[in-house]
Amino acid sequence: MIIKPIIRRNICINAHPLGCAAQVRAQINYVMDRDKIFGPKKVLVIGASNGYGLAARIVSAFASDAATIGVGFEKPGTTRRAGTAGWYNIEAFRQEAETAGLAAWNINGDAFSEETKNKVIGIVKDKLDAIDFLVYSIAAPRRIDPATGEIYSSVIKPIGKPFTASSVDVLSGVVSEVTAEPASAEQIAHTVKVMGGEDWMLWVEKLLNANLLAREFKTIAFSYIGSEHTRSLYRDGTIGAAKKDLEQKAEHINTLLKPIAGKALISVNKALITRASAVIPAVPLYTALLYRIMKDKNLHEGCIQQMYRLYRDFLFSENSPKVDAKGRIRIDDWEMRPDVQREVAALWNEIDQQNIEEMTDIRGLREEFLRHHGFGMPGVDYSQDVRPDIF
Ligand SMILES: NC(=O)c1ccc[n+]([C@@H]2O[C@H](COP(=O)([O-])OP(=O)(O)OC[C@H]3O[C@@H](n4cnc5c(N)ncnc54)[C@H](O)[C@@H]3O)[C@@H](O)[C@H]2O)c1
Repeated sequence: MIIKPIIRRNICINAHPLGCAAQVRAQINYVMDRDKIFGPKKVLVIGASNGYGLAARIVSAFASDAATIGVGFEKPGTTRRAGTAGWYNIEAFRQEAETAGLAAWNINGDAFSEETKNKVIGIVKDKLDAIDFLVYSIAAPRRIDPATGEIYSSVIKPIGKPFTASSVDVLSGVVSEVTAEPASAEQIAHTVKVMGGEDWMLWVEKLLNANLLAREFKTIAFSYIGSEHTRSLYRDGTIGAAKKDLEQKAEHINTLLKPIAGKALISVNKALITRASAVIPAVPLYTALLYRIMKDKNLHEGCIQQMYRLYRDFLFSENSPKVDAKGRIRIDDWEMRPDVQREVAALWNEIDQQNIEEMTDIRGLREEFLRHHGFGMPGVDYSQDVRPDIF
C-alpha cells in the first residue's frame, strides 16, 4: 500500500511505518552523537510511543544504557489500514534497542487500567527486580476510573470567561479567530481527573507497595506554563488546573517515597508541536512564532534535545537539579527568556493570513508535525509499497 497522510482538523489519523522508524532512528542518532549520561539503568516510561515520552525513553536507553519498559496506547496497523504513529514508533524503538543489546519491553494498553499496571508489575518482577526511574508522559483525551468504571473526558477550555484569539490550522496555514466558551465545574473536575496527577500517584503507590522501586528511585512528570498569549486558555484554563494538580501530587508522592529516599519531580517543558499540542486553539500559532524566534536565536529544541538536556543538566548531573521557587525544573527556560517573550509579544498582533508564512515558522511546524507521523523523512521512499502491518 502507498501511505499518504490523512489529516482532519490538525489530527493526522494515519502514519507511515518506515517513516516512523526513520524518525526514531534520527532521534537515536542525535543521542549517540553526544556524551553518555550516568543516569538510570531500569526505566519505566508511561506514554512512551510519542513526543516527550518517546524521547525520554531514547535518552534513557541510548545515553544511559538503561533497560526500558514502555507503555503506549496505540492502534495497530492491519493489512488494509495504517496504524497510529506511536504503534510504529514504539516497535521501531524496541527493535533498535534490541540490535544495540539493550533490553526493552513494550506494552500497548490503557495506562489508567489495573490490567496494564499489573502487566508492567509482572515484567518488573520477572526481569528487572526494581526500577530506578519512572517517566510519566501521558496526554490523553479520556480516562476510565479503575475503581468506579466512570468515564472522564478532558476538555481544553478557559475558566470563568470566554477566550478569543487567533489560531492557525497547521497544515493549511489558514488563520482564523477562535472562541472557546468557559468550562463548567464538571468539565474542570473531569479534566483534572484525566490530566492531573492521580494516575501518576497510583502508579508510584502500586510499584512501591509491591516493593519494586529501587532505593533513591526518581520519577518525573511534565507540565507546561507558556506565554501570556495562551495563558487564559492553557495555564489558567482546564488543562492548567490539571497541571496544578499534577504539581501538587508531586509533593504527595515525595512523602510516599521518603522511606526509600526517593524523589518526585516536575519538569516544565517547552512548547512543541506534537500530536497532543496541535489541537489546542491558539497554541499552534504561538508555537509557529516561537519556533521562528528561537530558530533565529539558535535556541530551538525538539523533544529529543529537550530530553537530553533535561537528563544531562538537571536530572542526572552531579549537582542537585536547579529548580524554581515552586520546586519545578524549568527546561522551558529558553522559551521563557525575556528577549524571546518580548519578541513574541511584539509580533503576536501583527500576524494575519497574508504574512503568516513569512513572519512565523509555520513551515517548520508543518514539517515537524508530519514527521511525528513518519511523513517527509529524508531517505524514505514514499512511492514504494509498504505493508501497514509490518510491525
Ligand atoms: N507538547 C508540548 O508542547 C508539551 C509541553 C509541555 C509539557 N507537555 C506535556 O508532556 C506530556 C506528553 O505530551 P506530548 O506532547 O509528548 O504528547 P504525545 O501526544 O506526543 O504523547 C502522548 C503519549 O501518551 C500516550 N497515551 C495517551 N493515552 C494513554 C493511555 N490511556 N494509556 C497509555 N498511554 C497513553 C500515547 O500513546 C503517547 O505515547 C503531557 O503531559 C503534556 O501535557 C507537552
